[in-house]
Amino acid sequence: MRKDLILIASADRNWGLGKDNKLLKRIPEDLKRFADFTRDNLIIVGRKTLESFKDKKPLPDRINVVLTRDKSYTCPGAVIVHDLDELWNEIKDYQGKVFVCGGESVYRLLLPYCSKALITRIDDTFDADTFLVNLDELPGWEKTYEGAWQESSAGVRFRYVDYEKID
Ligand SMILES: NC(=O)c1ccc[n+]([C@@H]2O[C@H](COP(=O)([O-])OP(=O)(O)OC[C@H]3O[C@@H](n4cnc5c(N)ncnc54)[C@H](OP(=O)(O)O)[C@@H]3O)[C@@H](O)[C@H]2O)c1
Repeated sequence: MRKDLILIASADRNWGLGKDNKLLKRIPEDLKRFADFTRDNLIIVGRKTLESFKDKKPLPDRINVVLTRDKSYTCPGAVIVHDLDELWNEIKDYQGKVFVCGGESVYRLLLPYCSKALITRIDDTFDADTFLVNLDELPGWEKTYEGAWQESSAGVRFRYVDYEKID
């Protein structure tokens, strides 16, 4: 079982992640950072997050591993897994970085196996229906980096905050 997964997410002031299977805010600078981190590596997403991608297609230039309990689910270009055992089997020998890319249920499921979290904090509060655990209050995790607030071209402030598991 790997313990070196990297969680990557954007969250608002309440740790909100999304609403109606969409991001709360599309921040172009952050989407570019997400693409730069994950490109040529492996991402794990839940079935709902996969279906929130453009045309419901896996992201190009990386291995997309999708969790679903639906044994008949197919998605060309993605690797489908149905439980943690199948997931471990799929990623155990992967040499690159493994990013946990949401949504809420997949972050919850895989946080115990993450060693790092790369968070984009959005300085605003949205009406959200999915949330990330508050990493500032989670025992066993500590903040290792907090960037300055930046103005996005999308009209919100955001900053990058990194966390690491300490136990
Ligand atoms: N802010 C961010 O960084 C960020 C990142 C990603 C997503 N999001 C947002 O998060 C929201 C989606 O989150 P969500 O929690 O509703 O959905 P999700 O985690 O993307 O997908 C949930 C689905 O994953 C499958 N799944 C979950 N746990 C599983 C397990 N243990 N074994 C097998 N399959 C499992 C199930 O698929 P089946 O129903 O097919 O069985 C489940 O319905 C959206 O609004 C999205 O935009 C935000």
